[in-house]
Amino acid sequence: MPCEVIAIDGPTASGKGTVASLVAERLGFHYLDSGALYRLTAYAALKHGVDPDDETACEAIARGLAPEFRGGRIFLEGEDVTSAIRAEAVGIAASRTAALPAVRRALLSVQRAARRAPGLVADGRDMAYVVFPDASLKVFLTASPRARAQRRYKQLIDKGISANLCDLTRDLSERDRRDRERAAAPCLPALDAHILDNSGLTIEETVAVILAWRERARAAA
Ligand code: CDP
Repeated sequence: MPCEVIAIDGPTASGKGTVASLVAERLGFHYLDSGALYRLTAYAALKHGVDPDDETACEAIARGLAPEFRGGRIFLEGEDVTSAIRAEAVGIAASRTAALPAVRRALLSVQRAARRAPGLVADGRDMAYVVFPDASLKVFLTASPRARAQRRYKQLIDKGISANLCDLTRDLSERDRRDRERAAAPCLPALDAHILDNSGLTIEETVAVILAWRERARAAA
């Protein structure tokens, strides 16, 4: 019997990364940040002068990707890229690279390999309906575009990265459109997902709702 997976999908800046890693921590589960794999692929493409829309070249990068996750940091080709892959330019390139079906296929086995006892919390866009369709709990986390743009702004400023709220709002809606309308694994809730709009909730309240849903799902099973 494969171990438990909680899938948390949602659009950019919906808070899913923070929420998913806290849910994992509370349960003592492993955590998969699938977006980091797309960001790493896009980062390597940009670094080597590869167009993020070039499917053949980006697929080769994704297949050869050998990131090391050590002490909360991410290393690629010996370089600490933890902060660099969080740059908005990398996120935007990642959303283009992530629209390429061959890249998505190349990253599938790495993501599935993260499923280990005692359990996994995975966050992304297609965790529930492509990568872990048998997840025991599926959550689609969202928030209003305004709340998401403000959160992303604060996140960047806190990291010392300069940002402009108007540009962020525009980039965010552009990224939403690309993620939602792409043919390969569009960012949409799975039919059996619980949808949670957390615009008015704190991170802790959001985590509490998800843990309560998990308890209910376990009781029902
Ligand atoms: O932090 P944010 O939600 O903006 O992005 P992320 O989760 O780090 O993912 C970066 C990009 O990778 C997103 O804009 C998506 O286009 C893509 N992605 C995806 O297509 N599928 C996933 N499972 C995760 C990310």
